[in-house]
Amino acid sequence: MKNIRLGVNIDHVATVRNARGEKYPSPLKAAILSEKSGADSITIHLREDRRHIKDTDLKIIKSKLRIPLNLEIAATREMLKIALKNKPPFICIVPEKRKEITTEGGLNLDYKKNFLKEIIYKLKKNNSRVSLFIEPSKKDLIKSKLLNADCVEIHTGKFCNLVNQNKNYKKEFDKIRNVVYLGNKLGLEVHAGHGLTYKSSKILSKIKGIKEFNIGHFLIGESIFVGLPNCIKKFRKIIK
Ligand code: PXP
Repeated sequence: MKNIRLGVNIDHVATVRNARGEKYPSPLKAAILSEKSGADSITIHLREDRRHIKDTDLKIIKSKLRIPLNLEIAATREMLKIALKNKPPFICIVPEKRKEITTEGGLNLDYKKNFLKEIIYKLKKNNSRVSLFIEPSKKDLIKSKLLNADCVEIHTGKFCNLVNQNKNYKKEFDKIRNVVYLGNKLGLEVHAGHGLTYKSSKILSKIKGIKEFNIGHFLIGESIFVGLPNCIKKFRKIIK
């Protein structure tokens, strides 16, 4: 029994909504439907430029959801304040660059190290589970442990690109597997996310010790064709 939890990232429901400045499609509706369809948690990324999820989305989704809300934030004073106020049960700290299309890589754990330490301490004290989004690197894993994070989420973007391009992914797969193994040994809960599809999540689910997948772009896109409940059910089947 692998028991990998499925976190559904609904950012891109907000992307479609914001493209026309309407109230629909509603991220709240997507969150509730995902919950009903078997998601274990809902992930939203409140970006500095608010390009998809807005502050009002965070507030309403947090108040209506029964499964845990996983809030992704950059390591900034503004986001720390918002996270402390809204108290999401799960928080994932991610790097953020203004011009990027999506989160391009893992955190630089040497940059603003003391601030990272402070954020993690304050969020944990506020009863949020804190995860760090990192590259599949043993060095970053050890640094995450020293920063006292509860979990790490491994950036799977490079691996997923190789799978999508039908290229040899063995080296990247082994790298992720070794990091998962060491993470578990260090007592960190290990998650994985970014770019995951049916195919790449199926391959990665073979790695023992991954506790959670966070999946957004492909899942929301595929839902256009098969519906959100069917897509979530299919992912659940694949990763169980
Ligand atoms: N995990 C983290 C930490 C992310 O930043 C993202 C992208 O926002 C995802 C998972 C989901 O990635 P994707 O949308 O490519 O499935």
